[in-house]
Amino acid sequence: MTDAELKHLLELTDPEELAALYRSAYEVKLRHIGPKVSLRGLVEISNICRKNCYYCGIRAGNSNLKRYRVSREEIVNSALWAYDHHYGSVVLQSGEVSSDEFTEFVESTVREIMEKSDGRLGLTLCCGEQESRVYERWRKAGAHRYLLRIEASDPELYRRLHPADHDFEARKECLRRLRALDYQVGSGVMIGLPGQTTENLVHDLRFFQEFDLDMIGMGPYIPHEDTPLGRGVCLTPEYKRSQLEKGLKMIACTRLLLKDVNIASTTALQALADDGRERGLLAGGNVIMPNVTDTSYRRSYQLYAGKPSLDENSRQSCDNLTRRILAIGETILWDQHGDSRHYFNRKQETEQ
Ligand code: 5AD
Ligand code: SF4
Repeated sequence: MTDAELKHLLELTDPEELAALYRSAYEVKLRHIGPKVSLRGLVEISNICRKNCYYCGIRAGNSNLKRYRVSREEIVNSALWAYDHHYGSVVLQSGEVSSDEFTEFVESTVREIMEKSDGRLGLTLCCGEQESRVYERWRKAGAHRYLLRIEASDPELYRRLHPADHDFEARKECLRRLRALDYQVGSGVMIGLPGQTTENLVHDLRFFQEFDLDMIGMGPYIPHEDTPLGRGVCLTPEYKRSQLEKGLKMIACTRLLLKDVNIASTTALQALADDGRERGLLAGGNVIMPNVTDTSYRRSYQLYAGKPSLDENSRQSCDNLTRRILAIGETILWDQHGDSRHYFNRKQETEQ
C-alpha cells in the first residue's frame, strides 16, 4: 500500500466504507491468526513515575493521586490468579523508575512468577526506558516480551508531547536494545492527539513496519483533567465517537499492513464505548489485557479519564469478557502464551 492509500483509509468517514475497511482487516486476521483472542492478565504494579509526559494522568507532577507499589507477594498472587484461570500470560506494567532497587524488585518478582508457574506463564514487561543491563537481567529472569510505546513517531510531535528531558532517539535505542536481547518487542502510539495529522499516523504505520515490530499496543488519546494537555477539555459524545473511530481505523490499517503481528484491542477503546474492545477485535485486534490488579489500586492508576472497570474484580471481568468475546464469534486461546507469529516468522527468515 502506498502512503496515499493509507491516508485515504485513515480519512474514511462513510459508515459503509468503514465497515468494509474493518471487514477486510478482519479477514487478514482470520487468514494469519484465525478467529482467536489471546488474554494477558494486566498487573499495574506501581504508579510511581519519574517522567512528566504532558498527557498522562500518573505523571510525576500530578500530586492528585496516591502513589503505590504493589508488594511482590501481591503481584505474584495476581499473576498466579491469571495462571489458574488459564490466561496463559501476564503483563507487569508500571511508571518509569530507574534504580537498582526497582531493577532488583522486578527481577525477583519475575523470577518468582516463573518458578511458581513452572515456567509456563508468558510474561510481558512494560516498565519504560531502561539501560541494556536492566533489560538483560529481566530477560534472564524470564520476561520474554516487552512493550515500549514510541507514543508518536514524528520527532516534532513527540517533542510537543514531552518535556525537554525526554529523548526521542533514546526511546528508539531502547527498542533496538530489546530486540538485540531477543525479546518479542512491542510498541505503539496514541491516536487522535491534539495537532496530530493523518500524515503523522501514516508515519506511525511506517514506523511499525520499519522497526519490524512483533506487537502493537496503541489506543486513542483520552484527555485527563490533571494533565497539561487534558486540562479543561470536554469529552463530548461526538469527541468520544470520533476518537474511537480513529483508533479502530489505525488497528485495521495496521492489520492490513503487518498481517501476522499481535495487535492489542486496548482498554482505551473500552473507555470510549462499552463495546470498544470487541470492536477492536473485529477491526483486526487479537489481544485483550483484562485487569487483574487488586481493585483497591485501580483508581490510582488512571492514565486517562473514564478508565473502565474500576470496581470490577478479576473474576467478574473474566466472566464478562469471556461472554462478550464468544458473542462476537471469536474464541479464546486459553493456557497459551499467544506469542507473536511475526516473531517466529522473522526469526525463521533470518536463519534461512
Ligand atoms: N490517553 C490515552 N493513552 C494514554 N497513555 C498515557 N496517557 C494517556 C492518555 N491520556 C498511554 C501511553 C502510555 C500507556 C501506558 O498509556 O501511550 O505508553
Ligand atoms: Fe510515566 Fe509512562 Fe505516564 Fe509518561 S506515559 S508519565 S513515562 S507512566
